[in-house]
Amino acid sequence: MNILDTKFAQGFIKLCNDGWNMGWHERNGGNLTYRIKKEELEEVLPCLNRTREWREIGTSVPGLAGEFFMVTGSGKYFRNVILDPEDSTAIIEIDEKGEKYRICWGLVNGGRPTSELPSHLMNHEVKKEVSQGLHRVIYHAHTPNVIALTFVLPLKDEVFTRELWEMATECPVVFPDGIGVVGWMVPGGRDIAVETSRLMRQYDAAIWAHHGMFCSGEDFDLTFGLMHTVEKAAEILVKVLSMRPDKLQTITPQNFRDLARDFHVSLPERFLYEKK
Ligand code: 13P
Ligand code: ZN
Repeated sequence: MNILDTKFAQGFIKLCNDGWNMGWHERNGGNLTYRIKKEELEEVLPCLNRTREWREIGTSVPGLAGEFFMVTGSGKYFRNVILDPEDSTAIIEIDEKGEKYRICWGLVNGGRPTSELPSHLMNHEVKKEVSQGLHRVIYHAHTPNVIALTFVLPLKDEVFTRELWEMATECPVVFPDGIGVVGWMVPGGRDIAVETSRLMRQYDAAIWAHHGMFCSGEDFDLTFGLMHTVEKAAEILVKVLSMRPDKLQTITPQNFRDLARDFHVSLPERFLYEKK
């Protein structure tokens, strides 16, 4: 079985291309990782080279020991993934302690996995635990409207969640748990990974101030759909704020409670505060 013919590799490549077409991936911006299923791994195992050297992840993810991931490469452009996936992406294996990884396929012209590997893997570890293994995709994108809002809204989970929920009736149904916000931090390291994965315990989406967003999901459609929904709500909010600083009318806390009842979602009351 050629790796590129598998459903998971096809889904991975399609998400990269869809994200590029949305304008979220200038240059090498953004990265994607997918936790490969057991049955998928069995299919591709004969194509993997498991003799290369182990390298440090830069953090510890014991909950992912022995797992395999498809990942984008550091410095690789999302727009090129569809043209030459073996150059832009890799499959990596995590060692039995969850401290090292090795490249088993891909990155044929050299390179290493995304510089955000610590954040991706720490998010995967948390999401694997809290979703009982269901979540498999972590996606980071440079979504311009969400980034713009991090310059004008307080960097608080409650504020971003509520303001984005108000922008489209579907929003609280798509992300009923809300959305987390990480203040500006140096990307690429363990500290931002710890902070982001802490938020991923409660949320499926986390914003990095002045940088972009991370989303988690069960499959490529759900994860891309979440990124798209949040970014579109942010786009509407940017338009609203550009037209006038105050809204003439909006979806009220009671409207949200009514919606929650009929759509069978529970919306935490801490997001339904009265505004001054
Ligand atoms: P990589 O090219 O290393 O994936 O980095 C891109 C990026 O978005 C960093 O946050
Ligand atoms: Zn980034």
